[in-house]
Amino acid sequence: MIIDKLENNFFNYRFPEEDGFAYGFNFYVLVNDNDVMIIDAGFRTQAKKVHKEILSKKLKLTHVLMTHFHPDHVNGLVVLPGDITVLGSPEYHKTIRKEIPQTVTPVSFSEGFQFGDFSLSFTATPGHSACSILIDINGKYLHSGDNLMSRYDGKALLPWVEYNQIAQHILSLEKLKAKKPDIVILGHGPALLNKKEINQAIEDRLSYLKAVLNSEGKCSWQEAIKDCSCQYADNDFFKQLTAGLTQ
Ligand SMILES: [Fe+2]
Repeated sequence: MIIDKLENNFFNYRFPEEDGFAYGFNFYVLVNDNDVMIIDAGFRTQAKKVHKEILSKKLKLTHVLMTHFHPDHVNGLVVLPGDITVLGSPEYHKTIRKEIPQTVTPVSFSEGFQFGDFSLSFTATPGHSACSILIDINGKYLHSGDNLMSRYDGKALLPWVEYNQIAQHILSLEKLKAKKPDIVILGHGPALLNKKEINQAIEDRLSYLKAVLNSEGKCSWQEAIKDCSCQYADNDFFKQLTAGLTQ
């Protein structure tokens, strides 16, 4: 686990790819006096390390804010205390498959949430999952959840989406683009630190998803990525997405 301080009371605890996984994981850690909020809970082994680090600093984990409830973000909750506040989309129940010891408190899309110096606001972005949200932090950072994903080294990953959710994912990427964020932080992969990089990352995913959708899932890999400027790490998600649909 590597710890980066982004600014006062705001940290990134990051994990490289583990064996058998195509991508690493980011915990974003917000501190308010002795209380700590983490964004996402990762896998159990990762959450244990993060919690141990928090305890070693004589701090208390009080909140976990979920970008969405897929297993690689939620499973860590199982090893965290049952009395912490877990915040997430009101749609969380459509995605969560794991028994967790905590109760989920739905976030308010109109009112946001204040945690110490951090003003958090949320936007629903269904597609990758029914409960995906964007998290705005002080109008400076935008956590995209898995709307954008990359490997630990920054190499682009394809969007993961089920075929019947592609149109929703496209709309959600358009919402992300319309926010014109300065810095985008991700669940998987390094932060995107300027508008050009952010826009390109969004456009690349949009052009891929539109190519697949417009061809009704029948396009080749080359056709799917013909307008993308990036080189994707692999085409595994394309194969899964079009399984049974390709000619
Ligand atoms: Fe993920």
